[in-house]
Amino acid sequence: MAKVSVIVPAAGAGERFDRKGNKIFQRLKGQPVFIRTLEAFAPRDDVCQVQLVAAAADMPQLKERFGGNLSLLGVTLVVGGATRAESVRNALVNVADEAELVCVHDAVRPCVSQLWIDEVFKQAEKTGAAILAWPLHGTLKRVSDQSTVAETVARADLWEAQTPQVFRKDILQKAYARGDLADATDDAQLVEATGRQVSVVMGDPRNIKITVAGDLALAAAVINTLPKPKLKGPQHPFAEAQ
Ligand code: CTP
Ligand code: MG
Repeated sequence: MAKVSVIVPAAGAGERFDRKGNKIFQRLKGQPVFIRTLEAFAPRDDVCQVQLVAAAADMPQLKERFGGNLSLLGVTLVVGGATRAESVRNALVNVADEAELVCVHDAVRPCVSQLWIDEVFKQAEKTGAAILAWPLHGTLKRVSDQSTVAETVARADLWEAQTPQVFRKDILQKAYARGDLADATDDAQLVEATGRQVSVVMGDPRNIKITVAGDLALAAAVINTLPKPKLKGPQHPFAEAQ
């Protein structure tokens, strides 16, 4: 089993989220969004390191209110940058020597199933670069001035990238060293720019990114429906099949 170092970018401003403060602190089923996200990764046997990349302004709150949770989870804090890619880069320089793979997962995607993490880790170990993504199903319109349809965009072959995005450490480090960090909205984009193929693993519409306040209600609605891995080892005869 390859060891994985996990980077969780959380240093955004949450400008599209219509409530005050960083959306990572919003409560989802009673728990801050970012804690739920970290709990999906930190306890895994294949994860050897977790870095939470946070804005300097959020550091006091993270340390004072959540220092205990973070140290129990073995999570270290890193100060973020002006863009998501700069935030990831700030953590990429600290990746543990023992890690073979680096996984980047948005702090604001708390509805991630262990099954999907298993799949994308497995694929990245095989091919060196793998992301979760989901094919688009609706009819796509390009809209001008937020009000008028400019054109209908062909949907064939269009997928929405999700996270986790997982790469062999050297591949991601090379992509970040060479890439244009100002324009990248995900990590795969930088890896693609080096000419390397990125594998796509089927994601799930429930793996939503909390962007606007309405997404929080969606996340709360789907969180108890996430698929769970089958339990290993002997099971209770009446255990519910998952
Ligand atoms: N992120 C980051 N550093 C930045 C910008 C974004 O670590 N400079 C993180 C966010 O905290 C989030 C993830 O990248 O977990 C995905 O970004 P997004 O959903 O765009 O979050 P924000 O940038 O916070 O929101 P907005 O774009 O609406 O301001
Ligand atoms: Mg953003």
